[in-house]
Amino acid sequence: MSNNLSDVSDYIDKLNSNNPLYIFYNEIIDFQKDHIIPAVRFDTAIFLMNMVLLIKPKKILEIGFGSGVSALFMSAGIRTNEFCKIVSLERDKNRYLRGNKILEKYDNRNIELINADAFKYLSNENNKRQCDLIFLDAVKGDYIDYLPILKNYICKNGVLITDNILFNGKVTENKTPEKYKNGVELLKQYNEALSKDADFNTSFFYIGDGISLSIKK
Ligand SMILES: C[S@@+](CC[C@H](N)C(=O)[O-])C[C@H]1O[C@@H](n2cnc3c(N)ncnc32)[C@H](O)[C@@H]1O
Repeated sequence: MSNNLSDVSDYIDKLNSNNPLYIFYNEIIDFQKDHIIPAVRFDTAIFLMNMVLLIKPKKILEIGFGSGVSALFMSAGIRTNEFCKIVSLERDKNRYLRGNKILEKYDNRNIELINADAFKYLSNENNKRQCDLIFLDAVKGDYIDYLPILKNYICKNGVLITDNILFNGKVTENKTPEKYKNGVELLKQYNEALSKDADFNTSFFYIGDGISLSIKK
C-alpha cells in the first residue's frame, strides 16, 4: 500500500460521515455534552447496528451503557416487527440516571438499563440467561476476567463483540506510559486468549478503536 494508514482512515471516516445516521449519533453525544461520557465511535455504532440487522438477535446483553450510543444504535438495528430485548449494565449512578433520560427522549422500550456492577450482576443465578449477542465495552483491563463468565451467557452460534481492543494503538506501542501499563498488558492477554480460544471463531477488525467479533461454536 503506497498511502499511509492515517490517509486510509481519513478516507473511510469521510465516507462514514456521509451516512445520514451521523446526525442521530451527534444528537446522542450532544445530549450529554456537559459531561464527558465515553461512547463508541461512529463507525463502531454503524457496525453494531448492521450486526443486529444481520444476526437478528432476541436477547442482547451490553456491558457499559456509557452515553447510550451503542445501545441506541443496536436498538436501531431491530426490525419493528421483531421481538428483541437489550439489557444494558451501567455501574455509574449518574450515567444510569442520564441514560434513563435519553431512553425517555427516544421513547425506547427495547433497552432495559440496569444500574449494576456487571461482575455482581453476572454472578447472580437469577440473571443467568442465554444471549445471542453480547457487546462488551467496559474497563479494558477487566476483559480477561469477563471471558470465562461471558462464555456461559452466550448461546451456540451466539456472538461476542468487544470494543477498544486496540486501546488507541497502545497495544502495539513499544513504550507504554506507566499509568497504562497494567491495563494494556491485561488487554493484550484478552486479545491473545480470544484469538486462541477453541470455543470461538474470532475475527479482529480495524474499526473504530478496534473490534473483535467471536462466534461461539
Ligand atoms: C466506554 S464506556 C461505554 C460506552 C457506551 N458503550 C457507548 O457507546 O455510549 C464504558 C462504561 O462502562 C461502565 N462500566 C465499567 N465497568 C463496569 C462494570 N463492571 N459494570 C457495569 N458498568 C461498567 C463505565 O461506567 C462506563 O460508563
